[in-house]
Amino acid sequence: MDLRTAIRLRRSVRRYVAQPVPQDLLDRLAAVAQEADHLVRPGVRVERVDGRERVAGVLARYAGVYGLVQGAPHLLVGLIPEDVPENRIDLGYVLEQVVLEATRLGLATCWMTGSYHPDRAARAIPLRPGEQVAAVVALGYARVDPLARLHDTVVRRVVAAHRRLSLTEIVFGGRWGVAWSPEEADPALVEVLECARLAPSARNRQPWRFVVEGGAIHLALTILAPIDAGIVMAHVALSARELGRVGRWRLRWADEALARRLGFPLGVVAVGTFRGLRMSEPASGPR
Ligand SMILES: Cc1cc2nc3c(=O)[nH]c(=O)nc-3n(C[C@H](O)[C@H](O)[C@H](O)COP(=O)(O)O)c2cc1C
Repeated sequence: MDLRTAIRLRRSVRRYVAQPVPQDLLDRLAAVAQEADHLVRPGVRVERVDGRERVAGVLARYAGVYGLVQGAPHLLVGLIPEDVPENRIDLGYVLEQVVLEATRLGLATCWMTGSYHPDRAARAIPLRPGEQVAAVVALGYARVDPLARLHDTVVRRVVAAHRRLSLTEIVFGGRWGVAWSPEEADPALVEVLECARLAPSARNRQPWRFVVEGGAIHLALTILAPIDAGIVMAHVALSARELGRVGRWRLRWADEALARRLGFPLGVVAVGTFRGLRMSEPASGPR
């Protein structure tokens, strides 16, 4: 399965069967986490909690609209060395690479920043000095019986999980607020943005906006959701690479000069710029 198919197939699964994931697949995911591309110098890392009992001990019994994420035999634990937005962005970027590989392997996942106890997650794994847990991801095989499906349907309806803003609502041409049309754009760029649009975000808030300028994609956030930003950046980089356009993100967190130049409204934060979508364009370096 290619990554763009995995992006289209992935969805959050909150009910799991008891069957553990075979060791070779766990090893494969550990290798992806270990070798993952980073946006900042390595520091962010992923640990794993194994066993339904141990995982249940970390997950919250009550988690607002979401209800309990139940029965997962494994939990990926995302760790940041220091609580700054850049590390949270990098965690989203790295862990989503693992999530998409898991999807390719036929596994089910659910990102969580609310439905777990960070202190219990921290106690379940060996932490390095200064490290903290910033997110976890349930991992296993999806339960497909009617009760599990009912719970899934209710949660997904409450958070409108299936819904995504259209490309024309989240992409601007050259400057914030200027309409952008997929009809006249490079099909590879449209596909990359489509893969970005399908990214998961906490409560499905879809806080990302893109300004397309030549072969560059500038990313902005309408709310402070750095993990969501990292996830969408992974979707852009991975889908571009699969299309043969090896580009790179340059992280520009809260870059006011960029925000001003592109006309971002007050409260909208610049996150970074992706270059390299044009076949002839150099993959990195400011223009
Ligand atoms: C950073 C992040 C945090 C999330 N936190 C939770 C959570 O605490 N509990 C939960 O059940 N789902 C959580 N989700 C799942 C989102 O609700 C889900 O991704 C979104 O509704 C879109 O649905 P989909 O993943 O099925 O496409 C989270 C997703 C992300 C990306």
